[in-house]
Amino acid sequence: MNLILPYLVLLILITDINSYNILVFCPLFGHSHSTYFGKLADILTEAGHNVTLFTPTIIDEFRNHSYTKLTKDVVHLDPNPKLKSIGDLIAGNSRYWKQEFSILEIPQSARFFQSVTGELHNVLSSNLPLLDKLKKKKFDLFLFESIFTCALPLIDYLEIPAFIVAQSITFESSSMRAMGEPVMPSYIPDLITQSSDKMTLYERFLNTAIQLLQHYFNYSPEYYLSYNNPNKRIYSMERLSDASFVFTNSNPYLDFPRAIVSKNIPIGGISVDTENLKMGKLSEAWDQVLNRRPKTFLIAFGSVILSKDMPFEYKLVDFQVFELSKVIVLCFVRVSLARAMEQFSDVTFIWKYEDDDTERKKTEKAKYFFKRERQFSADPRLSAFMTHGGLGSVNEVSYLGKPTIMCPIMGDQMRNAKMLARHNGSVEISKHSLGDSKIVEEAFRKVIYDESYTVAAKRLAEHLQNQPVKPKDLFLKHAEFAARFGKLPSLDPYSRQMGFLEYFLLDLLFIAICFITLLCLSLYFLAKFVWRLFRSKSKTE
Ligand SMILES: *[C@@H]1O[C@H](CO)[C@@H](O)[C@H](O)[C@H]1NC(C)=O
Ligand SMILES: *[C@@H]1O[C@H](CO)[C@@H](O)[C@H](O)[C@H]1NC(C)=O
Ligand SMILES: *[C@@H]1O[C@H](CO)[C@@H](O)[C@H](O)[C@H]1NC(C)=O
Repeated sequence: MNLILPYLVLLILITDINSYNILVFCPLFGHSHSTYFGKLADILTEAGHNVTLFTPTIIDEFRNHSYTKLTKDVVHLDPNPKLKSIGDLIAGNSRYWKQEFSILEIPQSARFFQSVTGELHNVLSSNLPLLDKLKKKKFDLFLFESIFTCALPLIDYLEIPAFIVAQSITFESSSMRAMGEPVMPSYIPDLITQSSDKMTLYERFLNTAIQLLQHYFNYSPEYYLSYNNPNKRIYSMERLSDASFVFTNSNPYLDFPRAIVSKNIPIGGISVDTENLKMGKLSEAWDQVLNRRPKTFLIAFGSVILSKDMPFEYKLVDFQVFELSKVIVLCFVRVSLARAMEQFSDVTFIWKYEDDDTERKKTEKAKYFFKRERQFSADPRLSAFMTHGGLGSVNEVSYLGKPTIMCPIMGDQMRNAKMLARHNGSVEISKHSLGDSKIVEEAFRKVIYDESYTVAAKRLAEHLQNQPVKPKDLFLKHAEFAARFGKLPSLDPYSRQMGFLEYFLLDLLFIAICFITLLCLSLYFLAKFVWRLFRSKSKTE
C-alpha cells in the first residue's frame, strides 16, 4: 500500500494538470440511454474533468430524474409543445408483450425518430441565449449518442473542436457504416435481428433486408441547417464520421466477434458496478426471504415493459380468480408462469412487479414481489435469473455469473439473448411460450438444477472481470486523447469513400471475368485456326 500511494498522488496530479471541459449531450428519451450517459459523465468527472450534462427533455417523466451522482453541472431544456406531444407518443410499450416488431415498421419508426430529432433541432435553435451561456464555457470535447445527430449543428454553434460518439447499444449498422466499418450482414446480426451470427439462408436474407431498410430509411434527417447561417447544410452521416472515437456498448468477450475500425472502442459493461452491487446491504426482511429455501430465483423484466402489463394468461398471478371461477380454470388450465413456479417446492421465486395491489400479494404464498432488483442481485444465495434481455440486464448477469432464462420482448433484446446464449450459460424462451407452463417449467429446471449452465456463466463472468483492459480505462484514456488532440483524421479509413463496386473489388472481378473470357475465346479460335491449317495441309499432301 505504501508503495502504491506515491503513484496514486502522482496520478491525481497528472489528471489535474490535464483537466478538460467536456459537454455531454443527453436528451431525456430513454431511461437506459440516460443512465448510460450519466455514468460516462460521472467517469469523466471522477477523473477531474469539468463536465456539463446537457439534458433537453423529450419524455416528461424523466425530467426530474437525476442520472448523475458526481456531475453537478446539469443544464435542462424544456421541450416546446410539439416535441412534448411527440414525447407523449413514445411512452407505452405494453403491446409488445404479444406483438412482434415487423421489419415493415422500419420506415415508419425511422420517420418517427426523424421527427424527434428534427423537432429537438428546432427547440435547440430557438434557445440561442441558453446555448450562448454554454458557449462561454469553451468546451474541449462534446459527447453524444449517434442517434441524436441534431447535436451536430450544436457542436458547430458552440465552436467545440472535437466530438466523440457513444452508443448505448451493441451495434447499429447505419452509423458504423458511416464511420467506414465493415457491416457484413452475412454474419453480423443487426440490432433488431432475431438471429445469432450463424444464420440460415433465410435469416441472412432477413438480416440483409433489415440493414438495407435501415440504411435507406435512416433514423436521422439527411441534413440540418446551421443555427446562424440558414443556407449552410450540415449533412448528418458525413459529419458523424468526423468523430474522434466511437464508444460502443459492446464487449468483445461477450458480443459476436467481428472486424471493427480503429476508432471503434468497445466499452460494453462499463456501467456494471460489481463492487457496488456486492456491497448492497440487505434489509432484515429480504435477508429472511433469501434464507427461506435452498434456492432463490429472481424474475425481472426491466423498466420499459412492465410485468404488470403482461397478458393475464402468461402470468396468472391471481389465484383467487383461479379458484372462484371454474370457467377460467378451464380456459387457463395449461397456461401461466405462476403454475410453472408452483412445481418447485425448494425454490423461492422473487418477481419484480410494479403493481401495488396488496390484495394480490396476500394471495401469493410462495412468491415475493418487489419494485427494484438492484439491492440483492449480486447475493450469492440467488441461484438464477429470468430477464427480458435488455442490454443493461445482460451485461449485469454476465458480470455476476448467474445462469439466466432470457425472454426477449422487443427491440435489441432478441439479439442480446442470442449473444448471451452463445456462452452456454443461458436458456432462451420465446415470449409466446410464457403461456405454456410446461416450456417455462423445463427452462426453470435447466438453469436451476443443471450445473453446466452455472459453470458456463461463471466462466464468462471470470473473463469479463479479468479482461486485459477495463472498459472504464479504455473510455477515459480515449476520451482524454480526443480532448487533447481533437479531430483524428488519421483514424478515418479510406474505405468510407469507396463505392460499392470498388470496395468489394467487383470492378476487378468484372475485368478478370472479361480477361478470362477473352483469353478462352482467343485460345479457342487459335486452336481452331491451327486445326484448320493442319487439316488443309494434310489434304494438299
Ligand atoms: C474547471 O472548473 C474549475 C472550478 O469551476 C475551474 O477553476 C477550472 O479552471 C476549470 N477547468 C478548466 C479546464 O476550465
Ligand atoms: C419537475 O420539476 C419542476 C421544477 O422543480 C416542476 O415544475 C415539474 O412539474 C416537475 N416535472 C415532473 C414531470 O415531475
Ligand atoms: C458452447 O457449447 C458448444 C457445444 O457444446 C461449444 O461448441 C461451444 O464452444 C461452447 N461455447 C463456449 C463459449 O464455451
